[in-house]
Amino acid sequence: MSKKGLFITFEGADGCGKSTQMEKITQYLLSKDLELMVTKDPGGTDLGKKLREILLGYKGKIYENCELFLYLADRAQHIDEKIIPALKQGKIVLCDRYIDSTLAYQGYGRGLDKDKILELNNIVSHGLIPDLTLYFDVDTEIAMQRIGNDKDRLESEGIEFYKKVREGFLDLAKKQKRIKIIDSAQDIESVFTQVKAEIDKFLIPGKNNRSLDKGQLLRQNLRKADSKNR
Ligand SMILES: Nc1ncnc2c1ncn2[C@@H]1O[C@H](COP(=O)(O)OP(=O)(O)OP(=O)(O)O)[C@@H](O)[C@H]1O
Ligand SMILES: [Mg+2]
Repeated sequence: MSKKGLFITFEGADGCGKSTQMEKITQYLLSKDLELMVTKDPGGTDLGKKLREILLGYKGKIYENCELFLYLADRAQHIDEKIIPALKQGKIVLCDRYIDSTLAYQGYGRGLDKDKILELNNIVSHGLIPDLTLYFDVDTEIAMQRIGNDKDRLESEGIEFYKKVREGFLDLAKKQKRIKIIDSAQDIESVFTQVKAEIDKFLIPGKNNRSLDKGQLLRQNLRKADSKNR
């Protein structure tokens, strides 16, 4: 792994098992003495926690553009305050949700223009894209059963919305190599085996190890971010 950071995002609908698997992979990576930063989007910073409270708990209507900009405001702070500094220190950053959730929920789910979302996201993230994205795919009905009755503002959306979000994630995964589909309908240990296999490809040197190219890309993005921050 040498000194470069690695940016890994965990994506999927509510209840698909992201938190469960992040916890397990955190233990696995810590057991290898790797330096980690585990964080979430939204709510990865003190300011972001306030925005998260609004996003998940506000009882009134939040209009679609306002919702998008609240997510992006959270991400702007998160990227500059925490994610880029951690990657520069060579840490592995595990982030619960990132751009693909914005595209799936606000783009495919709410119907906002996906190219515009990408453009705006590019501004707040300084073009930083994950090295690896694990998308936890599970039937919408199963995910909803897993959540149970304790639903937040977004989880209270109807099943049709969630079906659009799932189709969105699958479409994104089809188009982008960095997104790996994890079959999250399986039991927790079998899901973890899939997660570990994908992450190991970045940690264990070998023929198929793509970490060098990804690392180069990452350093380019960090340089870009640096010059913009100056
Ligand atoms: N593979 C699995 N099989 C069965 N139950 C699971 C599996 N993975 C997670 N669960 C259970 O489903 C529930 C939701 O899981 P978890 O909190 O990890 O999902 P999440 O993707 O983080 O959801 P959210 O987006 O709402 O944070 C938890 O009670 C968890 O124990
Ligand atoms: Mg979670």
